[in-house]
Amino acid sequence: MKILVIHGPNINLLGTREPDTYGTTTMAEIDQSLQDLAKSKNIELECFQSNVEGEIVNKIQTTTTEGFTALIINPAAYTHTSVAIRDAIAASKVETIEVHLSNVYKREEFRHKSLTAPVCKGQICGFGAQSYLLALQAFVQS
Ligand code: DQA
Repeated sequence: MKILVIHGPNINLLGTREPDTYGTTTMAEIDQSLQDLAKSKNIELECFQSNVEGEIVNKIQTTTTEGFTALIINPAAYTHTSVAIRDAIAASKVETIEVHLSNVYKREEFRHKSLTAPVCKGQICGFGAQSYLLALQAFVQS
């Protein structure tokens, strides 16, 4: 199993960004805990972050060209706006889980709509940094 993890815009600021909403765990800490779990399950895992929509599209396209078997993505604000990221996920052959740190459904109404979730296998949100680990567990167990 070879899994790609993509973090969208502003996720690089975790730790100091709105800690009441997103917690104090940094992106590097999330990536380390994902790598630790992946290693214990003999899974190859790559983590990627970008603030740029097109770069995220390019990276999603590598799921096909570089032999990934699954994708975990937090599209962050692009969740609610990006047809391009939705189309890239739809075009990808790999099963995808969308994750969010916060429970987007108990926040502002504009966060209730995800353009990307309908082309994913499922969505995990509201568990903070653990949302990512739960997504990885879901792939491990399936
Ligand atoms: C987020 C939720 C989005 O609405 C927001 O724009 C983010 C982070 C989350 O992980 O909770 O940047 O994806």
